Amino acid sequence: RGQPARAVDLVEEESGAPGEEQRRWEEARLGAASLKFGARDAASQEPKYQLVLEEEETIEFVRATQLQGDEVSPPPPTQAQQKESIQAVRRSLPVFPFREELLAAIADHQVLIIEGETGSGKTTQIPQYLFEEGYTKKGMKIACTQPRRVAAMSVAARVAREMGVKLGNEVGYSIRFEDCTSERTVLRYMTDGMLLREFLSEPDLASYSVVMVDEAHERTLHTDILFGLIKDVARFRPELKVLVASATLDTARFSTFFDDAPVFRIPGRRFPVDIFYTKAPEADYLEACVVSVLQIHVTQPPGDILVFLTGQEEIEAACEMLQDRCRRLGSKIRELLVLPIYANLPSDMQARIFQPTPPGARKVVVATNIAETSLTIEGIIYVLDPGFWNKQPTSFQISCINIASANQRAGRAGRVAAGKCFRLYTAWAYQHELEETTVPEIQRTSLGNVVLLLKSLGIHDLMHFDFLDPPPYETLLLALEQLYALGALNHLGELTTVRWEVITLPLTAYSCSEEILTVAAMLSVNNSIFYRPKDKVVHADNARVNFFLPGGDHLVLLNVYTQWAESGYSSQWCYENFVQFRSMRRARDVREQLEGLLERVEVGLSSCQGDYIRVRKAITAGYFYHTARLTRSGYRTVKQQQTVFIHPNSSLFEEQPRWLLYHELVLTTKEFMRQVLEIESSWLLEVAPHYYKAKELEDPHSKKMPKKIGKTREELG
Ligand code: CDP
Ligand code: MG
Repeated sequence: RGQPARAVDLVEEESGAPGEEQRRWEEARLGAASLKFGARDAASQEPKYQLVLEEEETIEFVRATQLQGDEVSPPPPTQAQQKESIQAVRRSLPVFPFREELLAAIADHQVLIIEGETGSGKTTQIPQYLFEEGYTKKGMKIACTQPRRVAAMSVAARVAREMGVKLGNEVGYSIRFEDCTSERTVLRYMTDGMLLREFLSEPDLASYSVVMVDEAHERTLHTDILFGLIKDVARFRPELKVLVASATLDTARFSTFFDDAPVFRIPGRRFPVDIFYTKAPEADYLEACVVSVLQIHVTQPPGDILVFLTGQEEIEAACEMLQDRCRRLGSKIRELLVLPIYANLPSDMQARIFQPTPPGARKVVVATNIAETSLTIEGIIYVLDPGFWNKQPTSFQISCINIASANQRAGRAGRVAAGKCFRLYTAWAYQHELEETTVPEIQRTSLGNVVLLLKSLGIHDLMHFDFLDPPPYETLLLALEQLYALGALNHLGELTTVRWEVITLPLTAYSCSEEILTVAAMLSVNNSIFYRPKDKVVHADNARVNFFLPGGDHLVLLNVYTQWAESGYSSQWCYENFVQFRSMRRARDVREQLEGLLERVEVGLSSCQGDYIRVRKAITAGYFYHTARLTRSGYRTVKQQQTVFIHPNSSLFEEQPRWLLYHELVLTTKEFMRQVLEIESSWLLEVAPHYYKAKELEDPHSKKMPKKIGKTREELG
């Protein structure tokens, strides 16, 4: 029968869309019907900016629209004003004239929604006003939550400086794995996830006088859960003040949710921003970004540039390319300071983006989405927007941004003076291809951990939990079922004694807790283990393949960590093997924490001594509901029969084992399984007899599937 072979070929062909191709695909999609645009808008005959520099390409932009500024704009701060004392800068922020009014509104209402343009001073000023007003008397604290770690850190540092205190004293931050607070800390900036954790130790948040949920418009999962919990606490703690701060998006929803709480609007101050689009879609947006930055640098009047990219790897690549070209251009161009900003950037480097640009030079900040609303960098006049983002910072899910985001990004150019936003996509794409707004995270995620978290907070009736946007009933039900299957919930839906942090990786039966701890720790940072500099892709790929072990990606992670540990946790070793030192350090942190946890629940450490079958079985015991089998038409998940694909980065991409376990599904162009492990169907009956029936696991074909023919990873990369 020739049928299976053809089916497998087909799968291969379809699954061949890794990062790079994925982007191209998006590009193509963005540009689909845009060819005519240049002509249509040529009426306005705007100047086209082109940089003429021997070897460089140019990107042609067409001016299309303008983002409206205020009718009466205040004058841009002069050089002298910018140099003025920190207090003068505080007084110059848009929120300042409303200080008294705002404090009065907070005094009058328990819940207040605060809406204001990014950069108006919500995050840095309002907690300080509350502090000055005495809200932290009698040892009470003020919490201000941020969806992003970098924002929490950098804002806390800024506020500490404004207050003239040492970071970690009166003002501090707390993010996962890093607590920079002390007994004295009264202003606490923290990630929304950390405040959720606070509910574990202090369900009524009794030590807080004010909770400010900031960047509410981002609608992260944690923020959404916080809403429900805080609304509840506010009911029986009438003295608790709740502030919900958001960029100018959808504040009415928050108001409705909090029983029609009043909305306090801080009038925006924005200068008009001219919007430019590319005439045709760009094939390689990273390259296009670099060229455009140089073009702007050479042709445009002074003012700093902000570039939005999707993640660390990309940002580093872009910065390298920019620096390299500047070096080659030498004295032909003025000085260009290239500064990256992303979540794992060391804090001293983060601080550099806020330093004023030296006269005569220009600064280009290459940022993730963090610069969209969480951080404001002074002096930005030009924004370069390729139109992509990584919606979930924990994965490589790169997708097109939406209209709200595109406008928010453009707005960043108009904060200090009239600005320009260069979009690396066509006007047609903007009008026809981009969605309106983001779907809240809660509606796109697996709810297992949320359910456990809520349960551990003592919330049992999840079906009636006050969600701002309730997740679909079926998704909740599925999550509950999985947890029941895992033994984390009993038949009454109560948490069992299984500690939820470890239930996903059971350790007892297979005596390999050493290895499992490592795998778990590595999985928690798995998306940023390897790096692949543009000029050394071959070396980097070889280094990665050298870590491959038969059995699958979990063992590869284990191998990387073990070798690193043997090197004495060396950074040099990481450098030589194209492994991210910072991620490894994080993994080591996580591993230590998990080890501590095991001690507490009195699970002893033991090693499998190289018997990796035990490790694979233990992982199977934890993830038995994440399985897929190879059928004639490719991989299907065992229970739901959903079509899925092995991620091209996987060590098993070319192996095509019949039975697989996956750590997560990532939806890009299709559902990709990331971190896959080869398993045997008999193990499933061994570890989860309550979940699988022998009949489901029968192999329909007796012969092994033919090995795939088709593109290799290299061809795809
Ligand atoms: O929260 P919102 O977007 O309304 O504004 P903010 O973050 O409080 O920013 C107010 C001002 O503080 C801006 O002018 C920023 O440039 C400045 N800032 C800073 O210099 N360093 C930081 N890490 C954060 C803010
Ligand atoms: Mg803010």
